[in-house]
Amino acid sequence: MTPELFLRIVNGKVILWDYAHHTQFEVDTPHLQRLIALCSGAELTDSEIDQTLQSSGVLNAQHPERWGWDCLSRIFHRGTQIGLKPGEPLRTEDGAQEYVDYCAAIADQAPSMHLERPGQVISLPAANMDSLRTITLTEALLARQTCRAFDAEMLDLTQVATALWATFGAVHGDKRYDLEKHGLRPIGYRRTSPSGGSLQTSEPYLLALRIRGLPSGICHYRSHKHELSVVQDSFDAALLGPLLDRQNLANDLAYGIFIVSRFHKMWWKYPHSRAYRVALLDIGCLIQTFQLVCAAQNIQSWPSGQLIDEEINRLLRLDTECESVMFFIGAGRGSGVIPRKELCILQSAMQQQTPEAG
Ligand SMILES: Cc1cc2nc3c(=O)[nH]c(=O)nc-3n(C[C@H](O)[C@H](O)[C@H](O)COP(=O)(O)O)c2cc1C
Repeated sequence: MTPELFLRIVNGKVILWDYAHHTQFEVDTPHLQRLIALCSGAELTDSEIDQTLQSSGVLNAQHPERWGWDCLSRIFHRGTQIGLKPGEPLRTEDGAQEYVDYCAAIADQAPSMHLERPGQVISLPAANMDSLRTITLTEALLARQTCRAFDAEMLDLTQVATALWATFGAVHGDKRYDLEKHGLRPIGYRRTSPSGGSLQTSEPYLLALRIRGLPSGICHYRSHKHELSVVQDSFDAALLGPLLDRQNLANDLAYGIFIVSRFHKMWWKYPHSRAYRVALLDIGCLIQTFQLVCAAQNIQSWPSGQLIDEEINRLLRLDTECESVMFFIGAGRGSGVIPRKELCILQSAMQQQTPEAG
């Protein structure tokens, strides 16, 4: 086992990160050499270097033996936890005033909440929210299921517009009127899913494959205006499976949505890396909403976390320093939880194993 540390070289200096305790140290070569020796089984002595290393606490936390992933996930997992310092008690006083003061202090630097990418604008038909009333919430919850066998059928643009609006639209208006009426400065807007800090860091990019009334291509969906802006005016459906790491079942979808996180919105309000978790959780909420909406429309849906990030980022022309694709959700007509190709392979394997009758 090794301590929970990693090294970075910054401006020619070696910086030791103790990610378990959220501390950083500049280390010189003698300290580094001794650290390597101690991590390799050498006994601690009362030398000055050993005492310095020990009192810094960097040797106190050990990478566990039963962690099933490599060190990258461990660094993220431990490094983004909130802890108490040794001996520090849990705080009991309410944090409201501190939070309000913090929000007031950063309000002037708030990034823009609405994204309007350049490109040809396409207006969408109004969402038909009544079409979602045909089944109850209980029925939608029970009908929600991941489909992996799609029929390559067309869907109407209104059906897609409805799913976009019901999942990603600013359904309560383009800003936080609910906060404004209490005299608070409104930041952000609301969707039908909760969003960390109300920042709506997740941006939807519609991938149109088989939509009546919309040519194939990729468009950004403007949540606050319920309209599209074109990112790419064509798309070959056969490319989708490869982009989703060879999940070729996706080629038969009617449409998909790449969900992109805009990290810089998070950096503004939550400067700690812990907020990366919030960005992921935000997407989780949207996936569930999207699948429920599809269930209410009697349209089948498919979520995928497996994708070739860099290729999709390039396709969407994202600024990868501050935003990245994180997830894909697809929809269309279909039936079955097992991809058709997989089912054929399984069935022919089973036939080969079954001895002939008679
Ligand atoms: C975060 C997340 C990632 C997923 N990634 C994939 C994926 O890459 N490919 C896939 O076929 N299904 C994927 N799924 C769908 C799950 O396999 C599916 O939800 C699970 O089998 C349970 O089935 P149900 O959704 O029908 O209840 C993902 C689901 C979630 C929530």
